[in-house]
Amino acid sequence: MHGAPGARGASCALRKCLAVSLALSSVCLLSACHAPGAGADRARGAQLFAGRLPLSATLQGQVEALPVEASRCINCHAPPDSVSASASASVSGSPSDPLRTFGSPLGAKALTDAVSRRGGPPSRYDEVSLCRAVRLGTDPAQVMLPRAMPRYVMTDADCRVLWAYLTEGA
Ligand code: HEC
Repeated sequence: MHGAPGARGASCALRKCLAVSLALSSVCLLSACHAPGAGADRARGAQLFAGRLPLSATLQGQVEALPVEASRCINCHAPPDSVSASASASVSGSPSDPLRTFGSPLGAKALTDAVSRRGGPPSRYDEVSLCRAVRLGTDPAQVMLPRAMPRYVMTDADCRVLWAYLTEGA
């Protein structure tokens, strides 16, 4: 009454193989994380931000994708390296104005300081909440961003490099 030893042997082998391949794939994943290096990550993030790499986005409530040229972050947000210069530049309207079309300058300080955004409780961004803002249009306090901020289809990897670029020097 030992059942079918052959089958048991096979399932053991399968389990072993699974364990090995899982171990291997997590090693690959880990090394992929570190392989390109932080510099390459930020460079890719900068290209995404400036729209030199195409981004796919729609405006909330619309089905048709925005033209690639219209979905560049840099069209509406000053990039991190110009944040101090643009701090004095007047961006009209408060960030909580739902009709606002231009975004505020984005940079490490703007994103990671705990401040009240759009009248919500003080909140700060991390990589996950930046991805959520970009994909779903909600801020870390779950307040909706204005309609003018497009909703993007973005991979986790691209969110990560965008975050690395935006918070460079943080
Ligand atoms: C067509 C204009 C437009 C484009 C393009 C755009 N945004 Fe925005 N974005 C806005 C507006 C308007 C707001 C709301 C005002 C504000 O908080 O800056 C906003 C808000 C944000 C916020 C919230 C900031 C905060 O303090 O809560 C983040 C983060 C953001 N945008 C990131 C991006 C990124 C990253 C891209 C490109 C992938 C992008 N935006 C492209 C218009 C735009």
